[in-house]
Order: sequence, then structure tokens, then C-alpha cells
Amino acid sequence: NKIVILISGQGSNMQAIVHACEREHWPARVAAVVSNRPDAAGLAYAAGHGIATAVVDHTAYSCREDFDAALAARIDQYSPGAIVLAGFMRVLTPAFVQRYAGRLINIHPSLLPAFPGLRTHQRALDAGVKWHGATAHLVTNDLDHGPIVAQAVVPVHDDDTEAMLAERVLEQEHRIYPAAVRALVEGRLQVRGLRVFVRPMQE
Ligand code: GRF
Repeated sequence: NKIVILISGQGSNMQAIVHACEREHWPARVAAVVSNRPDAAGLAYAAGHGIATAVVDHTAYSCREDFDAALAARIDQYSPGAIVLAGFMRVLTPAFVQRYAGRLINIHPSLLPAFPGLRTHQRALDAGVKWHGATAHLVTNDLDHGPIVAQAVVPVHDDDTEAMLAERVLEQEHRIYPAAVRALVEGRLQVRGLRVFVRPMQE
């Protein structure tokens, strides 16, 4: 079973997944890391781990559909069982989402359905929430609202800055996302509407 991870930047979630996959001997391997940005720092990490890397630069395409088609063509070269969005900062077209429905997963830095979209940590601070967190979810055409696979909660401290809160959330992302991706690749997810039932790992 092969995993393709899509990144746009530092790729710390990709690194956490690569590390867990190797250390825990998943019945799958990360076949490729693909970025929409040639300068994504995560590409060097992946190459250093002997993982194939590719860039499909969205600025080279005149429309979203053309970019998504080129991205899908690249992904399909690896015939992955799971496509993992990890800090991937592009909204995908319905055609792309449909093509990979059921094996496309994302990590969002908030407790969905709260704070979909961008700048989630500043918005959480501005809203005065006492708890914030991260959500791993299957991707559907409803942006940031797919079936929830895993969540983690972090406290918001009175003296939190956006950066401090972001760091606390990111740390939890690195914990729940590898576990969520592992459940996906091991076929332990059962989706019923917006509810996902995760079967435990065999002893
Ligand atoms: C972070 O804000 C993370 O919360 C979100 O994407 C951004 C970059 O993540 N998932 P990564 O370090 O590129 O995985």
C-alpha cells in the first residue's frame, strides 16, 4: 500500500508521518512527496529519506482545473491507496476530490467545525475560546468539513500569542495525524455520513 503526501511548505506533518511509518513498520510506505511550490522545505527532507519527490507548480497553470489534472496525473504514477494533504495550501476542485474520495485526508489546525479556513489560531484567540486544537478529516467538496477521523484539544492560555498557540496545536497534529493516516491505510475507518468509526489496531 502506497502513500503520497502533498505539501506546500515546511512539511512537519509529512515528516511526522514518514517517521511513524518507518518506526512503526506500517503495512504501507510513503512512495512520494509532491509539492505545489518548488521552494517547499519538506522536499529536501523527503529526498534525504530516499522518498521520491515532485513539484507540480500551480503558477505554471492557467486555471485550477488544469493544475489539479496535472497533480492527479503525477499522483497516479504511484497508484497510492492514500493521498495525504499535509500543510497543502491549495483548495482542490470537486473533480480532484471525487477522483480520490475515501482515500483523501487532511489535517486542519482547529477543532472543526469551528474555524474552517485560514488564520485559525488568531481567530481562536480573537474569539476568546478556552480550548482549541486540530482535526484530521477525510476530504469532501465541503471545504474543511469532511468526516472527522481524529481530533486533539489544547488549552488556550491567557498570555498566548498566535505563535505560541500555533506551536501547541502543531505538536498535537504531529501526534494525531500519523495515527489517522495509519488507520486509513490499514483500512480501519468506517464512514457513516459525517461520522467515522475507527477500529482499534489488532493486538
Ligand atoms: C500548519 O499551520 C499546520 O497547522 C497546518 O499546515 C501548516 C503547515 O504544516 N496543517 P506543515 O508543517 O507544513 O505540516
